[in-house]
Amino acid sequence: MLSISGLVKRYGTRTILDGLSLAVEPGAVVAIVGESGTGKSTLLNLIAGLESPDAGRIELAATDLAALDDDARTRLRRQAIGFVFQAFHIIPHLTALENTVLPLVLQGVGVRERVARAHRMLEAVGLGDRSQSMPRELSGGELQRVAIARALVHRPALVLADEPTGNLDPDTAQSVLALLAASARADNAATIVVTHSEAAAQTADRVLRLARGQLATAPALRAAAP
Ligand SMILES: Nc1ncnc2c1ncn2[C@@H]1O[C@H](COP(=O)(O)OP(=O)(O)OP(=O)(O)O)[C@@H](O)[C@H]1O
Ligand SMILES: [Mg+2]
Repeated sequence: MLSISGLVKRYGTRTILDGLSLAVEPGAVVAIVGESGTGKSTLLNLIAGLESPDAGRIELAATDLAALDDDARTRLRRQAIGFVFQAFHIIPHLTALENTVLPLVLQGVGVRERVARAHRMLEAVGLGDRSQSMPRELSGGELQRVAIARALVHRPALVLADEPTGNLDPDTAQSVLALLAASARADNAATIVVTHSEAAAQTADRVLRLARGQLATAPALRAAAP
């Protein structure tokens, strides 16, 4: 589904990603851990085509991202990718339901079907009774769950989640992670979750650590703790 090789990203004189490689199969959940500032969000932005690499290759569903023009990259992103941003990116003047339904609007799904699907997604994240709420009326964790509903509603082939449980209590975090993993398996979607949470890493099929610009297999976080 996703295949990355030799990925290099620099900001000025700093090399953030230094020849990184990664392959994720359909249906697999990969957790990426690593210290703050190591380049985890940068990696997700590159995969989503929101930034361009200095070297290396990113293939999504056998399509080389660099071979696409901006419009084609945007279309691929809308259709194939669900992104839970670290900073949510929830649109403030739209309700929870209107935010959730957006990917389906962009895909031209009919109004009845898209509202029904967005409702089901909000129910799945425990916000079935908050669909008409405005973002300013929602807590940080509720906003995060709207962002997750929006990332999954169009059943993308690739789900990228940047700290999706950072604002959630342990029980809600667990149910959101279970939802991410279940929808990955149900829709055969490749899923990458950036996380600092041990619980999050434990729901993954593989845990990788980003350090010095490269990914390496990480031992179970529990085992690594002193
Ligand atoms: N547009 C930019 N210009 C210059 N430097 C940047 C830019 N974006 C990110 N960086 C730097 O690149 C490094 C990696 O940033 P990134 O956001 O990918 O880290 P991260 O691993 O996601 O960290 P965190 O766990 O804190 O979210 C950081 O040192 C950051 O300051
Ligand atoms: Mg980050």
